[in-house]
Amino acid sequence: MQMESLVALCKRRGFLFQSSEIYGGLNGFWDYGPLGVLLKRNVKETWWNDNVLNHNELIQPNNAPSTYEMTGLDCTIIMHPQVWKCSGHYDLFHDFMVDCRESKKRYRYDHVLGRYVTGKKHGSEGAPSEIVKVFVTTMETENTQSALDEAALKFFGIRKKDIEVLQWEGDITSISKLTSFENVLGPDAKHIGTLTEPREFNLMFKTTIGALGGEDDYSFLRPETAQGIFVNFKNVCDSTRVRVPFGIAQVGKSFRNEITPRNFTFRSREFEQMEIEFFCHPAQSAQWYQYWRDKRFAWYTQMGLSGEKLRLREHDADELSHYSCGTADIEYAFPFLAEGEYGELEGIAHRGDFDLRSHMEGKLVKDGNALIVEKLPNGQPKHRGSGKDLSYYDDLAKERFIPHVIEPSAGADRATLAFLCEAYNVDNAPDENGKPQERVFLKFHPRLAPVKAAVFPLVKKDSMPEIAQEIYGELKREPLTASAVYDDKGAVGRRYRRQDEIGTPYCITVDGQTLQDGTVTLRDRDTLEQVRIKKDNLIAELDGRLKQ
Ligand code: GAP
Repeated sequence: MQMESLVALCKRRGFLFQSSEIYGGLNGFWDYGPLGVLLKRNVKETWWNDNVLNHNELIQPNNAPSTYEMTGLDCTIIMHPQVWKCSGHYDLFHDFMVDCRESKKRYRYDHVLGRYVTGKKHGSEGAPSEIVKVFVTTMETENTQSALDEAALKFFGIRKKDIEVLQWEGDITSISKLTSFENVLGPDAKHIGTLTEPREFNLMFKTTIGALGGEDDYSFLRPETAQGIFVNFKNVCDSTRVRVPFGIAQVGKSFRNEITPRNFTFRSREFEQMEIEFFCHPAQSAQWYQYWRDKRFAWYTQMGLSGEKLRLREHDADELSHYSCGTADIEYAFPFLAEGEYGELEGIAHRGDFDLRSHMEGKLVKDGNALIVEKLPNGQPKHRGSGKDLSYYDDLAKERFIPHVIEPSAGADRATLAFLCEAYNVDNAPDENGKPQERVFLKFHPRLAPVKAAVFPLVKKDSMPEIAQEIYGELKREPLTASAVYDDKGAVGRRYRRQDEIGTPYCITVDGQTLQDGTVTLRDRDTLEQVRIKKDNLIAELDGRLKQ
């Protein structure tokens, strides 16, 4: 599937629009259109139902170390600035950037890729030609070598047919592997040596609280929803009857000032997360980590992502975040990535007691295998914790401990994008005259499909519109089919195609036979099979089919 076709469909049919498009758009921000909002809500609701509401706390699921409870929170986006100091985001949530003095553009250091090439460079204003070896660069793309070819041709001023005169050396590597940028040609530069040394750039959006805006009146838009859960751990324990092990779930917006937002919604600056912080006894945390890894992977396969495009990858030790003592990523082979590459959908991290202890004692740092409070030269903690006791007392085991945390952290936008990519299908289906015709259809899982059913009168006469509207009204009253649509415009074959293109699993048509025997046709998006059903049985039939 070509990514451009999906992006075009998303805009044409109202799934996704660029934010502030009439003003030229805003890089890294996306708006969900009328169908997109339904799709994304279904993703979030399915996640919430499957992890929180439908979880039966009295029954021990397969492979779970014990029974457990689940609950939820909805915390604020702006929190006390100390939260981000103790969480580590204030000091550590950085990317390295390089600026180009010539093009005035800024690039994420590790995303600028290049390769050494040697060729003859004509001297300017009559100066003799010379042989030059330069590290030509481009931003990571689907076909990096062809982008590098183009940049080299431009730099040496030669035509494509003469490309053979250029001598390439070594593999494509990131400029972060170089020791000097002296011979580097920036991605948008004409001259070499214009990139600055890398500089750190904090990814949190800073904001001012209140009208005065003094030095102490700032905070940040949250870069993850997780911290709201940690700082409320005690509130939840004190206000409910939950017992460890239990999980707190939260769905909400997060913000990161990404240096290179790209690949449609994959890397945005404003996005939604679906996170669980699962609190357990330290002795059981390794088993719970396995449990959540497997449960979350299974969820994506149940929702339709499967086969070789989905994988679970355990992080190497050098990839682990500052807090993590074990992380696995669930990854999907998005079509905008190069062959063999995968993009992260969700991370499942074993966070140990890092977060609860940091919010108690102050920001922690690793000291060998231990975590200790980071100190200033004068011996004071670098960032003070709340001083509150966030330990847990198990009154049955008569034991006090700081729970360990397993965190399955998913992106609602990335999951939505993966479901869109996976759903995009093209086949040659017969049209209403039986002739094969190219058909684009979104093969969503019925639980995710934005519109579950569409109702058509075959023609706009003989009471067909009235009967179709009556059916439509009934579907609208049922929560499961409340997003149903009514369409009486154009040939029925074209109406089917319109619904296929937005992934509607079922179309119901009222025709001449309906007037005689009270039956309607029910058409299946994927098999194209049409069956006749008594219209009075329609709700029950759809209920059965949609709840598979
Ligand atoms: N609390 C842990 C945490 O936030 P993360 O791996 O940084 O971990 C979790 O983020 C998930 O949030 C990612 O797997 C991804 O799905 C989503 N995500 C992160 N940054 C994103 C961005 N810039 N745009 C869209 N989704 C993003």
